[in-house]
Amino acid sequence: MYDFWLTCTRCGTGHPALPLYRCRACGGSLEVSYDYKAIFSRLPFERMAARTSPGIWKYRELLPVFPDTDPVTLGEGGTPLLPSGRMGSTTGGFRLYLKNESANPTLAFKDRPLSVALTAARQFGLTEVVCASTGNTGVAASAYAARAGLRCTVYVPAAAPAEKLEAMKAYGTVLETVTGSFSDAYAASAGEALRLGAFNLTSTYLNPYAVEGNKTLAYEIFASLQTVPDWIIIPVGAGPLLSGCYKGFREMLLAGVIDRLPRMVGVQASGCAPIVRAFQAGEQEVRPWSGSTATLASGIADPLSTYPEDGTRTLAVIRESGGAAVGVSDPEILRCRRMLAEREGILAELSSVTAVAAVEALCGSGAIRAGELVTAVVTGHGIKDMTAAINFEKTGVE
Ligand code: F0G
Repeated sequence: MYDFWLTCTRCGTGHPALPLYRCRACGGSLEVSYDYKAIFSRLPFERMAARTSPGIWKYRELLPVFPDTDPVTLGEGGTPLLPSGRMGSTTGGFRLYLKNESANPTLAFKDRPLSVALTAARQFGLTEVVCASTGNTGVAASAYAARAGLRCTVYVPAAAPAEKLEAMKAYGTVLETVTGSFSDAYAASAGEALRLGAFNLTSTYLNPYAVEGNKTLAYEIFASLQTVPDWIIIPVGAGPLLSGCYKGFREMLLAGVIDRLPRMVGVQASGCAPIVRAFQAGEQEVRPWSGSTATLASGIADPLSTYPEDGTRTLAVIRESGGAAVGVSDPEILRCRRMLAEREGILAELSSVTAVAAVEALCGSGAIRAGELVTAVVTGHGIKDMTAAINFEKTGVE
């Protein structure tokens, strides 16, 4: 028997580690559970973290892979945590660190979840993978599928940046462009995954194995700082990165390595912000975002049309942590992109710049106080959506 299994987040029913997406009892979404006592008694967390091997796989006992499965890896993780330097004038009084996820092999944090998900596909003997994506998941899925020798099909909304589409094609992926939003691509990919018997890698909470890769972000932030930040600021679509990161901190709390948890902040672009809207209205449940999803931050534009419960799951984590959900406008995003590039030497993709814009907003509102330690996650590289930014600056049209 293995030290992990799947648990329904709605009714608590346990399932063996199989390629499942929904609870067989109630249809709720699944998450991976672990026998932490067994894991930490064999290998204390500190010893895992002290391994000299680079990247996410030094934490493999806390990832949902069988002990005899070879990871599908391109050297993901181990990204720099950089103290903010010349942006300091705008962030008076607190210490800001930037976790630069654009240093991953496909230039975005998605290499963490996709390395784990493709390893899971390999361990289950699957030969095909499918996903819906606003771009980054699709690029990472394509690269890791190529590495593993699996066939990959990606469904993208028509507004996805050309740079991401070309990268997917270069890895040999079958690309399907869908009219409409990310949620329309979600529906198309779900049907196709079912038809093909393919592993669905879509970055919502659909694939419980993928979500686990995001925990490694927390382990690395702690390894770099040797303390827990007061705030962690993360751009969110449906929110698995935010929840995964929080789960990583909760595991370190359980292991006795840390003694408190960070406040988690989820950031969305105001043009498509279902989680922010629910947070600000004091609601317990997220509703789908109807109407336009137009924003320069196309990577995180997820209206959650048929799966609003995924947003509710993220909202619950934000609330439990004492954090916040923050909306930022496109002009703020463009201004912060320039500031990050010109003052810090980091060219970030528009969706990921939202984290820095949110730091400013939280600082302005007095939520972040002097002396506090803040980590903003720069989730992807600006080279992946240069054309969108240039066109907008020239014409004002998204
Ligand atoms: N930042 C970037 C650059 C992203 O591309 C995404 C999500 C997120 C943050 C949010 O992460 O999904 O864990 O809430 N991109 C997905 C994709 C939707 O298909 O690439 P999340």
